[in-house]
Formats: sequence, structure tokens, C-alpha cells
Amino acid sequence: MAGVILLRTTDSLVVRRVAAVAVAVGLDMATAITTPLPEPAALTGLVVELGGEASLEVIADTRRAAPDCTIVAFLPRPDSELWLRAEAAGADVVTTRGRVDRALADTLADRLSGRRRARRIRLAPLAEFAGRLGYVGRVAETPVGPISLYHLDGALWAIADRCPHAGASLCEGELHGDVVTCPRHGSQFRVTDGARVRGPADVGVSTYPVLVEVGEAFVEMPG
Ligand code: FES
Repeated sequence: MAGVILLRTTDSLVVRRVAAVAVAVGLDMATAITTPLPEPAALTGLVVELGGEASLEVIADTRRAAPDCTIVAFLPRPDSELWLRAEAAGADVVTTRGRVDRALADTLADRLSGRRRARRIRLAPLAEFAGRLGYVGRVAETPVGPISLYHLDGALWAIADRCPHAGASLCEGELHGDVVTCPRHGSQFRVTDGARVRGPADVGVSTYPVLVEVGEAFVEMPG
């Protein structure tokens, strides 16, 4: 693989580990003090330490200029809002500093093989859902449109929030057991598998796996 990974951090642990990944996959590595800096459009990979607006702009600019660039962003300390904003800006993966190299290597390997890895969207710490049952939230912006989240039977379930009949928001409907009723015309869907229970909708709704990692909940979207 020919190309460059640009590293936007001075964290020596991350620099060392990303350098090892670059060598392993045959890429050059540049840092923010390399001159001249590679153009965003020329990048194969970008690793960014998140730390405010500037880091988000770097992600968004690179994503615009190089849609295929592998972008890994990492948080030096926990910050839920920044995590979500980095994903929204276009990062393929947001992770912690100790996992940057693995995330980068996996994502580059997928790219090399042409495989499309499912995309994960962080929801919230699992503890935030612990004491709540039933409908627990909606994520308005995802690559597949809005999704709604339910906490039932000790697990989190994510379904497409748009009713397939005429687009009403299912999260505004009543939940009885594991069945939600569309607030507009009364279609019913099972939130654990998306199955249609009653029309007028003639199909069910999509469901998305919810994973838990290091105490954080993520929903997985198709690649
Ligand atoms: S919009 Fe949901 S049943 Fe019509």
C-alpha cells in the first residue's frame, strides 16, 4: 500500500505505536511538524488527538478532501460530547489512546481487503441506562436515519425510528411489553426484532445490534 499516515498528536506512546503500524503496512508517516505537510487529499490515514474545535475541523476537512482516508481520532481523557462530535465530523473510529494502533490497523486492513466494516456509533455509558426501562432515547442523526433505543429484559435494542407506513416517529408511540405502537395510524412493531405485529404498515422496521465495550454502549450500523 503506498501513501501517508498523518499524525496530529505529540503523544509519544501514540507516535511510537502508529509508526509501528505504518511500517507493518508499508505506509510513510508524517507528523504535524513535517514540512511540507501532505495535502489532505493525498492522505491514506489520519490519526488525530481530539482537543477542541481545531481537531474537529481537521477531521471534517480531511473527510471532505479524501473520502476514502482512514480517520482514527482518540481522546486523551473521557469526553462523551467530543466523541460524538468527532464521529459526526467524519472519523471512522473514535477510541482511547491505548487502542489507537489496533483501531488503525484493523481499519486499514478492512480498506485493503475491500471489506466494509460495520460502523459503530457511541450511545452513552451503559450505567446511564441501568435504572431505566422501556424507551430510553433517540439518536437523530445516524447514517441510516434516526434510531430509537429501548431497554428491555436487561438488554438495549435499537430500531429505525421512522414508521415504514408514513414516516411517523415511533419513539413517540406507546410501548406495551416489547411492542411499540405508531402514534399516527397504529401500526405495531416488536422492538426486539423489528417484526411488524399489526398494519397498516406492511413491513417491519430495521434493527441494529447494540454492543457494550469498556462500559460504553454502541450501536452498529451497516458498513
Ligand atoms: S405512519 Fe405509522 S402507521 Fe402510519
